[in-house]
Amino acid sequence: MSDRKKVTLPTLFKKVSDGQPITWLTCYDYPTAFLQEKAEIDMILVGDSLGMTMLGYDSTLPVTMEDMIRHTQAVRRGAPTAFLVGDMPYMSYQPSVETAIRNAGRFMAEAGCDAIKLEGGAAMADRLKGIVDAGIPAIGHLGLTPQSVSALGGFRVQGKSAAMAKKIVDDAKTLEKAGAFAVLLELVPDRLCKLIMERADNCIIMGLGSGPHAHGQLLIYHDMFGLYPKFTPKMAKVFGNAGEVILNGLKQYASEVTAGSFPQAENWFGMKDEEFDELKKML
Ligand code: KIV
Repeated sequence: MSDRKKVTLPTLFKKVSDGQPITWLTCYDYPTAFLQEKAEIDMILVGDSLGMTMLGYDSTLPVTMEDMIRHTQAVRRGAPTAFLVGDMPYMSYQPSVETAIRNAGRFMAEAGCDAIKLEGGAAMADRLKGIVDAGIPAIGHLGLTPQSVSALGGFRVQGKSAAMAKKIVDDAKTLEKAGAFAVLLELVPDRLCKLIMERADNCIIMGLGSGPHAHGQLLIYHDMFGLYPKFTPKMAKVFGNAGEVILNGLKQYASEVTAGSFPQAENWFGMKDEEFDELKKML
């Protein structure tokens, strides 16, 4: 474990005022959280992307609150000092302000989160405001919002036309006014991200595939390490091919067991002769 102090909202705002970019990664399990804690990643998002990366669905839509809580609890156990963000899954906040507050509260009470994130602009601002008014820090999410992938016409860059970009600028300001302490911009043009950041008064602008100008960067852990088998998006850099390392290890294991060269004496436990003789007598 690292011995850093707990990352809090003031820690994040201090980084912004010091001009230091914030690091943010997705994470869904205890061993990965342990490593991210050791690497002193500032923020961790238990994203509903776990539906795709961990559960093998084609989209994030089937993910439930129970899925999210179970994974978030595991991540908190592995990363006690990271700023932990729970991602509100599909239909955990869209139906009403009350539904949104109750489910956001579960992330805080049952999983030890520091904040929640929800997708959507002006149409979701009342949900976000309700959550913030209940004392729960909230992050907005604009641009490519995977829960609306069908309405958006697929996983594609958002805000390329002036009209669409204006809507995202307006939505960002609306979320900030509703109380969002941060807004994540996913897959928007770099200049749009910069413009929104410059117009933010007291709101941290985080980017995912939106260029270098944000207050910090988010990446999906599985994309960074070659762990998602279906595709690696352009916005992700592969920092190490763990998928390949694991695959080679699996093939080696299979061939050693087949050849009888695994296990070796150092991999098993013996028994004293007298105990074994006694056992045989007992049989
Ligand atoms: O679920 C998730 O990981 C996310 C990111 C794609 C931003 O919401």
